[in-house]
Amino acid sequence: MCGIIGVLGSHEVAPTLVEALKRLEYRGYDSAGIATVNAGALDRRRAVGKLVNLSDLLVHQPLAGKAGIGHTRWATHGEPTVTNAHPHQAGRVAVVHNGIIENYRELRAELASHGVPFTTETDTETVALLTEHYMKQGLGPVDAVFKTLDRLEGAFALAFLFDGEDDLIIGARKGSPLAIGYGDGEMYVGSDAIALSPLTDRISYLEEGDRAVVTREGVQIYDARGNLANRAVKQIALDNARVDKAGHKHFMAKEIAEQPQVIGEALNHYLPAGGAEVVLPGNGIDFSRIERLTMVACGTAFYACLTAKYWFEQLARLPVEVDIASEFRYREPPITPGTLALFVSQSGETADTLAALRFCEGKAAQIVSVINVPESSIARESDLALPIHAGVEIGVASTKAFTCQLTVLLMLALKAAADRGTLDADEIADHLAAMRGLPQALNGALDQNDEIRAAAQRLSEARDVLFLGRGQMYPLALEGALKLKEISYIHAEGYASGELKHGPIALIDKHMPVVVMAPRDDLFDKTVSNMQEVMARKGKVVLVSDESGIAEAHEGTFATVRMPAVHPLLAPIVYAVPAQLLAYHAAVAKGTDVDQPRNLAKSVTVE
Ligand code: F6R
Repeated sequence: MCGIIGVLGSHEVAPTLVEALKRLEYRGYDSAGIATVNAGALDRRRAVGKLVNLSDLLVHQPLAGKAGIGHTRWATHGEPTVTNAHPHQAGRVAVVHNGIIENYRELRAELASHGVPFTTETDTETVALLTEHYMKQGLGPVDAVFKTLDRLEGAFALAFLFDGEDDLIIGARKGSPLAIGYGDGEMYVGSDAIALSPLTDRISYLEEGDRAVVTREGVQIYDARGNLANRAVKQIALDNARVDKAGHKHFMAKEIAEQPQVIGEALNHYLPAGGAEVVLPGNGIDFSRIERLTMVACGTAFYACLTAKYWFEQLARLPVEVDIASEFRYREPPITPGTLALFVSQSGETADTLAALRFCEGKAAQIVSVINVPESSIARESDLALPIHAGVEIGVASTKAFTCQLTVLLMLALKAAADRGTLDADEIADHLAAMRGLPQALNGALDQNDEIRAAAQRLSEARDVLFLGRGQMYPLALEGALKLKEISYIHAEGYASGELKHGPIALIDKHMPVVVMAPRDDLFDKTVSNMQEVMARKGKVVLVSDESGIAEAHEGTFATVRMPAVHPLLAPIVYAVPAQLLAYHAAVAKGTDVDQPRNLAKSVTVE
């Protein structure tokens, strides 16, 4: 959701800014722009669409200067046009912004009453205009920015650059992340460590309300009360190799293929030395003291929670509620003192999930998060943060983060079962031993790539697709449908198999493919009955099952996808692979932009 970068360099910064924006483009790609100060003069270049358009523009209209800021946009206020693209400039001030200024209408009206004209439809322009307004009243850049920041409501990360100041960038953070990077005679600001990692391995993360006055000499950070603050400088070890496609055509393909390896890492992390029990970091969780689990997340992470509900309830007999984060706090759910509040988020920055976490502060017995970015806001505001060890996920459609979330959540459910005595030590050991086989099972699923591609080719011709699953495969049906619609733009819905006859079956005709996720488990026969109901109405069934399931029920199907036989608990994790690959190959067949589907952004830092 918008990426921002700022560089006070020792050489020309335009190429560095563009390189950094490339690494931030997963956050939004509606437009991109940079501004620099050259010989004291502020200038900018902006282009609509992908970053490549900005790069092309810079070839014809280069931008000199050793100080600059840059932005890649996911539009909130105003269409993606050049005028609405960042950086926004008002007189001597240029600004880039990630987030939403909630009181911008009020501030606009106030500025308009002073005769200040507006040229864009954005909330961000107000920030530049207000700062310029204060500078016109005689304030210097730092005081003008600080006074502006005092007036802003909403969530933002901001970076300011000034005409006449080639050794100054001011950064601010409230609700959206911002990091400061330390170089040799250079300084940086950026939305995340991914942007800064080729430039430096020394980073400070700003805290809520922090303001940073950055020069090439270093940084002065002020906290929300205006006091000078010390923020630890951390050594980051971001594996750059993980931020390239490693020979794959798309990040999504690479991230799907990486799943056996990253899940292996997650397992090693939580099942050390022989792996007979799940070991959590810090003070861990004592599930014997927990009466209820409330899980909150968005999108794919929400489906991971829905799957985990089956595990926590069946294995640990722990009552679970699962909520979509954007609904949770407005529902005002009562949080009883014995509640463990669990938040799942790949980015750790999702605004709705963060707001839900804050709603639970002071109410829940413990706030735990399952995240991929350990330095994220959600991780830092939790009592306990459990990393999923998926590595950087660049493809906008979440894949390896989903299966790593599931893996960590299943381990947590087994820990809960152990703490609550609902499974004995032998049963836990058996389940954990089965989990150790996950990487191999995932490799088995990946081996079916050709079969899945053939089925996906057929799906790519459809207008609508249904996904069905029963029990713990139901959330996976929802996830399969989400993956397909977000990257191939084919309309898809997921249903609990048994729910079909209560309405959606009206949609079935000879044009409707129906993907049935059905391992040969206790519920298989019931799912097959639902599948027969589809076929009786000429629906085209794609059956995803194991050898014995396919042998038993393939007759009359349109296509089959063969999965390895797996322990029943692991099926949602292993069957995620065909769900992802069906979407991936259908999107490739349709020629859509797999890694950067339209209208989406990786990290959703606005409500
Ligand atoms: C779908 C997808 C989104 C995210 C959702 C939550 O492929 O990626 O639905 O799962 O936006 O994001 P995080 O996990 O970062 O909180």
